Amino acid sequence: MSDLQIDHLGIAVKSIATAQAFYQKLGITPGHEEMVEGEKVRVVMIPTGESRIELLEPTSPDSTIAKFLEKRGEGLHHVCLRVSDLPATVERLKAEGVRLVSDEIKIGAGGHQYVFVHPSSAGGVLIELVQGR
Ligand code: CO
Repeated sequence: MSDLQIDHLGIAVKSIATAQAFYQKLGITPGHEEMVEGEKVRVVMIPTGESRIELLEPTSPDSTIAKFLEKRGEGLHHVCLRVSDLPATVERLKAEGVRLVSDEIKIGAGGHQYVFVHPSSAGGVLIELVQGR
């Protein structure tokens, strides 16, 4: 048994307005934009059943999303998994030698706790881990 769930898929886009237009064609009502100052991004969450799609648009050229767009172009940026005990999971990963982007659990917009696992430890995909509610 696993308590892992896909919380959301993060997609890096040049323009949320353009990207949202596609999802509107699929019948999705446009979500409301949120600024995440710390990450220098504008974010829209699109509900998809139990999961969500997170559209990420940089608000500054030195945002990590801006750098990603420059290097890789638009596309899948990260997969976010929800775990039931984030601190214990982070300790276990560290003990196993898994490379994390930051050693500390961070507090995001809306107060959720998260940490990123480096793609070199996760099959080439940036993994975001969040504490389940
Ligand atoms: Co995310």
